[in-house]
Amino acid sequence: MSVTVLVGSQWGDEGKGKIVDILSEKYKIVARYQGGANAGHTVMIGDKQYILHLIPSGILRDDVICVIGNGVVIDPNSLLEEIELLKKNGINVEGRLYISHNAHLIMPYHKLLDTISESGENKIGTTGRGIGPCYIDKFARKGIRIVDLLNRTELEKKIRANLKEKNELLKKVYEHDGFDVDVIIKEYLEFDRAIDKYIKDVPAFLNQSISEGKSVLLEGAQGALLDVDHGTYPFVTSSNPTSGGACTGTGIPPTYIDSVVGIVKAYTTRVGNGPFPTELTDSDGEKLRKIGAEYGATTGRPRRCGWYDAFLVAYSQMINGITSAAITKLDVLSSFEKIKVCIRYELNGKQLKSFPATVEQLSEVVPIYEELDGWNHDISSCLSYDDLPNKTREYLDFIAKHSLIKIEIISVGPKRKQTFYK
Ligand code: GDP
Ligand code: IMO
Ligand code: MG
Repeated sequence: MSVTVLVGSQWGDEGKGKIVDILSEKYKIVARYQGGANAGHTVMIGDKQYILHLIPSGILRDDVICVIGNGVVIDPNSLLEEIELLKKNGINVEGRLYISHNAHLIMPYHKLLDTISESGENKIGTTGRGIGPCYIDKFARKGIRIVDLLNRTELEKKIRANLKEKNELLKKVYEHDGFDVDVIIKEYLEFDRAIDKYIKDVPAFLNQSISEGKSVLLEGAQGALLDVDHGTYPFVTSSNPTSGGACTGTGIPPTYIDSVVGIVKAYTTRVGNGPFPTELTDSDGEKLRKIGAEYGATTGRPRRCGWYDAFLVAYSQMINGITSAAITKLDVLSSFEKIKVCIRYELNGKQLKSFPATVEQLSEVVPIYEELDGWNHDISSCLSYDDLPNKTREYLDFIAKHSLIKIEIISVGPKRKQTFYK
């Protein structure tokens, strides 16, 4: 039996989808625990690329059961589109996809409110998927959950109550026409018919499975620095991608977690706004973006790129309790003559002992770099650690030492075969 949490260790898009697909060979169940269709997890099977937003990346292995936990916020259209796309590609989800009855639903007004909020003064650079407004309603105890779909009368009552408030806000403050309550009720009842067969008491299912000795991989979305509590607030998402979120987001108790795998990109990227100490706005940044194909899997936005930040990953390691790390996209650095790694931050000439608590401080820190020699060698067809050039191994040792992580998996390309254990 093994229960493992897999987390993004930076600002998301570290290659979680690819590594979940690799690891899920050894797990019976893969469960998503937070976030929603803001996530875009890419998996390549042969030359075919799949981008998963809500369904766990384990779905591409026939014998794996996939679970969407209570911590996830579900956009009905996105979920149905994803199920359809998988079916079209010959991947059957029936009997092996379960959705928690406690998961909250993204409503059309959540997406609109997300867009409205982003058109104001405080732009976070969200994905526009309605994530923040949906979690606001969840914590305000006004949310609509999957379980509400099972009781038509209650569902109608809850949607009507929500819309009364939302429509008033939309009309009075934002001069919007508001939503037609009957249209929404009809749409969500149709959604219920389509997903009824997947609804499950997920905590009971997962705990029972664990007690039977089945292994579970808990797939995080986003990354530690986007965590609403531990990330670069307010430039974060509205959930807890860090490992602690895996327990609340699924109903698996902390005492069952055996290990935490941190997915760590060999350099740093960020989509959306907020401070980014090692960001490169020069030709090296362009080069990373181009070679790494750093464009958002959900929105297509160009990702901001920069050098590896060991101080940030060491913080992530502390918050997540990472027991082993997978280094991804190492191949992207292959043509750099010199590679920089940030090993600490200085603020007002003083070395910082801990990760800054405010974005104001983080915006002002000076990243202190060490420059390493590049390896000038295409490593994308390396099949083992021993195949890697000496300079590449030195780079790995260096980042591991300064980030306080133990590297176990190395990824040198998007495909399954471009992965090996150290
Ligand atoms: P996620 O959100 O963490 O699952 O990551 P994304 O799927 O958004 O972004 C990672 C991108 O890098 C995807 O296009 C992957 O196919 C790709 N990728 C993953 N691992 C590697 C790797 O080792 N090398 C290269 N070149 N690409 C990779
Ligand atoms: P995966 O799982 C990278 C970012 C957005 C924005 C902030 C808030 O693919 O790694 P939101 O729509 O969540 O309210 O946006 O979080 N963001 C991500 N960045 N990868 C993601 O997911 C992200 N999901 C959200 O760009 O800065
Ligand atoms: Mg992504």
